[in-house]
Amino acid sequence: MGAAPSRHRLYTDLSWTWPLISPPEHYAGEAREFWNFLRAGAVGKVREVLHLGCGGGHVDSNLKKYVRITGVDLSPSMLRLARRLNPEVTYRRGDMRSVRLGRTFDGAMISDAVGYMRTPRDLARAFATAFRHLRPGGAFVSYAEHARELFEQNWTQAIRGRRGGVEVVFIENRYDPDPRDTSFEATFVYLIRRHGRLTVETDRHILGLFPTATWRRTLREAGFQVRHAKPDPATPNDPMPWFVGRKPR
Ligand SMILES: C[S@@+](CC[C@H](N)C(=O)[O-])C[C@H]1O[C@@H](n2cnc3c(N)ncnc32)[C@H](O)[C@@H]1O
Repeated sequence: MGAAPSRHRLYTDLSWTWPLISPPEHYAGEAREFWNFLRAGAVGKVREVLHLGCGGGHVDSNLKKYVRITGVDLSPSMLRLARRLNPEVTYRRGDMRSVRLGRTFDGAMISDAVGYMRTPRDLARAFATAFRHLRPGGAFVSYAEHARELFEQNWTQAIRGRRGGVEVVFIENRYDPDPRDTSFEATFVYLIRRHGRLTVETDRHILGLFPTATWRRTLREAGFQVRHAKPDPATPNDPMPWFVGRKPR
């Protein structure tokens, strides 16, 4: 199917750090939000969901108690983690811009992987994939983790994780060198201590940055009836814009 290999270290040689720095149990609230929006957006029952950019399966490990999932991701290393965590979930390797599974679902979703869509054309292709895999009346749910309106220059965070004798400090910095284009750079520094011995690794990801109006328009152009689902009464302090699109019947 021709999905290009990932150059991102977090999804290749450093993928083992993912469960340490962003453990599955942190995704319970997000999985519940997806489930609520999927059910609210779809006409009829939601029994099967396509998760594009499923990563290490951390969202899936919380979502699987509600619904049957098929996950797609570009990275073989992340898919290995996901399969180990969720043996009951179906996982396939593919690019969310081009994958075609030849079947439809009641729901489709993209969580934090949607940031890898760096241009409006990429975003449109990912939305077209979701649209194509939905039955009429099915719902697509995603969120603009990096909406242009909410971007904070030089935003930086550090998080810690540990497993046995291995400790990881993961530092993330977000910087937009050119506000006129549709992307920014996320630079990751990993301080890895194995039984106290330090190694420092770095990783750079270029991510998409669009105004929420672009999201709305692109979803509409993909064929969806669009609903901007936030602010949601369940999480009023979370400013991240969520979108629910329904495939017309
Ligand atoms: C932050 S991780 C997602 C983690 C996931 N939410 C979880 O629960 O573990 C982002 C994922 O997006 C995937 N990705 C990036 N570009 C992609 C593309 N074009 N198609 C499919 N997956 C992609 C990466 O391989 C990576 O696994």
